[in-house]
Amino acid sequence: EHQLHDDPFASNISILSRLLPPALLTPRVGIVCGSGLSTLAAGLHGIVEVPYSVLDGFGYSTVPGHKSILAFGFMSEGRVPVVAMLGRFHPYEGHPLTTVTYPIRLMARLGVKSLLITNAAGSLNPSIPVGTIVVIQDHIALPNLTGMNPLLGPLFTPNHTRFVPLSGAYSRRLRREAFRAAHTLKLPREALAEGTYAWVSGPTYETPAEGRFLRAAGGDVVGMSTVPEVVAACDEGLEVAVLSLVTNMVVVPDGYQSVRDEVEAEISGQTIERPSTPKVSHEEVLETGKKRGELMKNLIEKLVSSL
Ligand code: 6GU
Repeated sequence: EHQLHDDPFASNISILSRLLPPALLTPRVGIVCGSGLSTLAAGLHGIVEVPYSVLDGFGYSTVPGHKSILAFGFMSEGRVPVVAMLGRFHPYEGHPLTTVTYPIRLMARLGVKSLLITNAAGSLNPSIPVGTIVVIQDHIALPNLTGMNPLLGPLFTPNHTRFVPLSGAYSRRLRREAFRAAHTLKLPREALAEGTYAWVSGPTYETPAEGRFLRAAGGDVVGMSTVPEVVAACDEGLEVAVLSLVTNMVVVPDGYQSVRDEVEAEISGQTIERPSTPKVSHEEVLETGKKRGELMKNLIEKLVSSL
């Protein structure tokens, strides 16, 4: 199978080597900051911000709450060089999956070994409330199973393998370190949960029936990002952790509301109380990101110091 480009990284590496001090040119840890979670960058020492616009092959993140900056800096008292995407690309913005995953491949090329991904997600699990950080242990990716897999097409290079296993996609070591970090930070037990991420293409939010479907399939949270990056990271041999911040509830108890029951009850002189179906908005998603961004930042910093 043919190669896509001679070297898809050469131009960016030459751009970055002009902008960065040598110690930042070979980050060990990569971070992807999801909706409203770009405040993570505030903790970087000696930060150098590279706008996506000066790099080749990068798109522009059009989603409110996403910047379009690749930030380089040191974490953990200046010991660990990291690279952080402040703003990511989603297929629903019109970005091809190759664009969505390209920054992850660039990170791998720069020397990143561990990738920490954050996102905002809706909860499908009634026992996982808003504000919880879910340590993702597996995913359900309907798009991957139905013709929208990020690895469809020619091999990225002849050195890549065709059939990438995803059974160990979410590093057990990193998941353990996330819970250890939470313990060190003295977080209450309920601050964190473990769960399965259901990836959907968006940009519409789910209908109530789709929410119940994803729940029945085994999903704990649902979101429109992350899985393409995880798949590319696995293709690049990176160790991956995903932390999802729950910003809203998707599945409500008694979610299916029969209007016939309601009308029949009214006719017979009764009234029945119905829980109202929640209606999610991007503002609500960003609001929770703002409220819990500090917690996410502390957790990521602790996690990075343990690597
Ligand atoms: Cl409710 N659905 C999806 N697909 N993504 C989300 C979300 C819901 N909340 C935050 N991100």
